[in-house]
Amino acid sequence: MAVERTLSIIKPDAVAKNVIGEILTRFEKAGLRVVAAKMVQLSEREAGGFYAEHKERPFFKDLVSFMTSGPVVVQVLEGEGAIAKNRELMGATDPKKAEPGTIRADFAVSIDENAVHGSDSEASAAREIAYFFAATEVCARIR
Ligand code: PPS
Repeated sequence: MAVERTLSIIKPDAVAKNVIGEILTRFEKAGLRVVAAKMVQLSEREAGGFYAEHKERPFFKDLVSFMTSGPVVVQVLEGEGAIAKNRELMGATDPKKAEPGTIRADFAVSIDENAVHGSDSEASAAREIAYFFAATEVCARIR
């Protein structure tokens, strides 16, 4: 399987619950490595730009408001099949439909405040990583 990079965000609800470490541990235990990370308070403009593809969706305004409601932790995860592996660890968008043992099943309460974000394709991962990190901020492959 190819080594990939994916963008992961620990959202304001999970940061407020103080489970940053528990979430990162799940990534590490699944064989993913953190190769870039930072805690940021997103502005409306930054959150809106990140979710621009959902601009016409009815939940867009609430999504931007939630994502700017407190700090988030943004990281790049690297590993074999990292994009799909991260999505599997996260569970379904709606925590009520997420498989038991997934991050969203364990830490999220609603579809609006669902603990984590993960890139859904190679193209999204490339765009999203570049949205948050300069190339020099992402570490070379760690072996
Ligand atoms: S969908 O519904 O299949 O298009 O969902 P998805 O493409 O996975 O991502 C939508 C992102 O918006 C967030 N969000 C919501 N989605 C659906 N319904 C409601 N009400 C809603 N509120 C917020 C959802 O968490 C997805 O965010 P990310 O960060 O991409 O996971």
